[in-house]
Amino acid sequence: MPDAPPIQPSDIVSTIDDASVPITVKLRDLHKIYDSGANAVHAVRGLNVDIPEGQYISIMGASGSGKSTLLNVLGALDVPSKGTYHLAGKLTSKQTRDELAALRNEYIGFIFQNFNLLTRSTAVENVELPMVYAGVPTRKRRAAALAALDKVGLADRANHLPSEMSGGQQQRVAIARSLVNTPRVLLADEPTGNLDTHTSGEIMKILDELHTKDGLTIIIVTHDPGVAEFTERVIVLRDGRIIADQKTPRCGGPAVPDVRALSLSVPEN
Ligand SMILES: Nc1ncnc2c1ncn2[C@@H]1O[C@H](COP(=O)(O)OP(=O)(O)OP(=O)(O)O)[C@@H](O)[C@H]1O
Ligand SMILES: [Mg+2]
Repeated sequence: MPDAPPIQPSDIVSTIDDASVPITVKLRDLHKIYDSGANAVHAVRGLNVDIPEGQYISIMGASGSGKSTLLNVLGALDVPSKGTYHLAGKLTSKQTRDELAALRNEYIGFIFQNFNLLTRSTAVENVELPMVYAGVPTRKRRAAALAALDKVGLADRANHLPSEMSGGQQQRVAIARSLVNTPRVLLADEPTGNLDTHTSGEIMKILDELHTKDGLTIIIVTHDPGVAEFTERVIVLRDGRIIADQKTPRCGGPAVPDVRALSLSVPEN
C-alpha cells in the first residue's frame, strides 16, 4: 500500500451532494462514556454526522479510537450518553426498549470480524436465526435463508457446518444472515479483518453489489485503506473525535489515509 499523506483539516469536505436524498443516520453532539466507576472512558466525543440513504461509508482510526463504540450506537445495541441519534428520522432515545429492538430488526443488519456463527448449526440454520427471533414461520424461513445463501454464492454449502467452510465462506454466511430481514442499513465491524487479501476482495465485491444494486446504506469499520477505497466516503476517528470526513478516490476525493501512518503523524495528548 503506498504511503498516504497525513490528513489536513482542509481535506474535510461535505460528501452530501444531493439535498433531496433522505438522511438515514443523523448524529448531533453524540457522546459515549463508559462509566466503570472511577475509570470512566469517554470513547466518543461530540460527533456530528449525516449519512444519506444509500451511502457506502467507511470508518477508520487507530485501535481504541471509538469505531466499534460508534457502530454499536448506530446499530442501537448501545445508547449514547449525550447527544442525539436519529435513525431513519426516528429519535432513538425516544423509543422504548421494544420499539428500539423493532427498529433494529427492521433497519439494521450486522456483520462482525469473527463471523459470530453458531458452530453447531449449519449454514442455513445460522442464516435462519434472525428470522426465528422475528417469528417468521419455519417453511418461509428456510426458503428465505436458502435465497440469501444463493445471493452470496453459497447455495451448495447450505448444510455445511462453519468448521467445514473457509473463512471467506463463513463471512459470506454471516452476510447472508445479516440480509434475511431485508435491512436498509448494513453495519460491518472489520468484516475482512480475519481474511487474506484475495478473500477480502470477494467480500468487498459482495458488499459493493449490495450498495450498487440493492441501494443499501453500508457503514464499514476497517483498518485497511484498500477496503476503505471501495467505499464512497471515509470518516477518520481519533480519540473519539472526527479528524477527517472526506470523499474517497472513487468519488473524486484524495487518497484514503493509512491510519498506521496517521497514528504516527499525530502526537498523542
Ligand atoms: N464496554 C466498555 N467498557 C469500558 N470501556 C470500553 C468499553 N468498550 C470500549 N471501551 C473503551 O472505549 C474506547 C474505544 O473503544 P472501541 O472498542 O470503540 O475502539 P475501536 O476503535 O473499535 O478499537 P479497535 O480498532 O481496537 O477495535 C477504548 O478506550 C476502549 O477501551
Ligand atoms: Mg473495534
